[in-house]
Amino acid sequence: MKKLLVSITALAMSSSLAACGSTSSSSSSSESSADNSSKTIGIAMPAQELKRWNNDGEFLKKQFEDAGFNVVLTYSNNDATKQNNDVLGLISDDVDLLLVAAVDGTEISKTIDTAKEKNIPVVAYDRLIMNTDAVTYYISFDNYTVGKLQGEFVKQQLDLDNSSGPYNIEFVAGDAGDNNARYFYDGAHDTLVNYINSGKLIVQSGEDSFEQAATKGWTTDNAKKDMENTLTNYYPAGTKLDVALCSNDSTALGVTQAIEARYTGNNTPIITGQDGDIDNLKNILDGKQSMTVYKNVNDEAAVAFEVCKTILQGDVPTAGLVDSLPMEVTYDTGSYNNGAKYIQSYLLLPYVITKDNLQLLVETGLYKWDSNNKYLEEAE
Ligand code: BGC
Repeated sequence: MKKLLVSITALAMSSSLAACGSTSSSSSSSESSADNSSKTIGIAMPAQELKRWNNDGEFLKKQFEDAGFNVVLTYSNNDATKQNNDVLGLISDDVDLLLVAAVDGTEISKTIDTAKEKNIPVVAYDRLIMNTDAVTYYISFDNYTVGKLQGEFVKQQLDLDNSSGPYNIEFVAGDAGDNNARYFYDGAHDTLVNYINSGKLIVQSGEDSFEQAATKGWTTDNAKKDMENTLTNYYPAGTKLDVALCSNDSTALGVTQAIEARYTGNNTPIITGQDGDIDNLKNILDGKQSMTVYKNVNDEAAVAFEVCKTILQGDVPTAGLVDSLPMEVTYDTGSYNNGAKYIQSYLLLPYVITKDNLQLLVETGLYKWDSNNKYLEEAE
């Protein structure tokens, strides 16, 4: 109950922050807007294929522009080489700050070192950039908790502490180049591992490690192919699949398609997800996907904006910044080590959405019911 209240408060506050971000900047003195207009922010997003990155990109751009900054926004088709080139371009354009959601957190490290040589501050957005001390801040959600919420959902649904099982489960993790993907997998797997060890949960495919469960590029197509192979090879006619623990919505979508095409069991497997993509919300309402872990990316963008603005104004973002933010954010200096150092992180809270509390999404102002009141669509 407490969690629900926190969520509702966070949701209600998030829209006010969005409003507040633009109001405070537009009400700032013409002098400070003039200062801002001499500064350019380079924003690098991974891909346009997934709805969330479009939202992040657009919302970030709008906030910075409303505050008078110039913005160059790039998308890199989920291609790490293209993103390296895109970011090198931003560096040679002498941007004043880089905000990067990496396609591959390791492949971009050297490029980020180049930014440091030119004294361009770098903030990692949503995904950590690895093996470089050039990253100053990291803004994300509590990624381990995302996976933990998925694992706990499965535990509750199957009543694992009281029922006898056994149940069949398959893990569908994210892209191995995305540092988040392992946190999501670990959060879910750690929550369920005792039941796997005791034999109450069985991974028929044996693909139980992160590396085995990873899905290249996080794509729906790859998740679909992987699950079709799993079903063909390990689920002969009538074998029940109880759970597909999918790390996000794009993989959940592929798994749902594979199940529709190939699954011969007569139950509806539990399918988890993350993000709240429109197609997945439709599947939740249709009973094809069980839950998604929702992350309010407008809140994430709003926190990133505050951190970047502080740096651009020559100040140092510290723990105290969270006190000025209306949503729940934790300042964390001991969880995210990128191989070079612990990165000062601002972490937001994710929460579970099922068929029963979808209305919470409408209350964010980001979604609305369609004209038939049946499915959700993006609010304008
Ligand atoms: C993000 C998720 C997203 C996934 C695929 C992760 O790094 O945190 O929200 O679903 O990438 O793009």
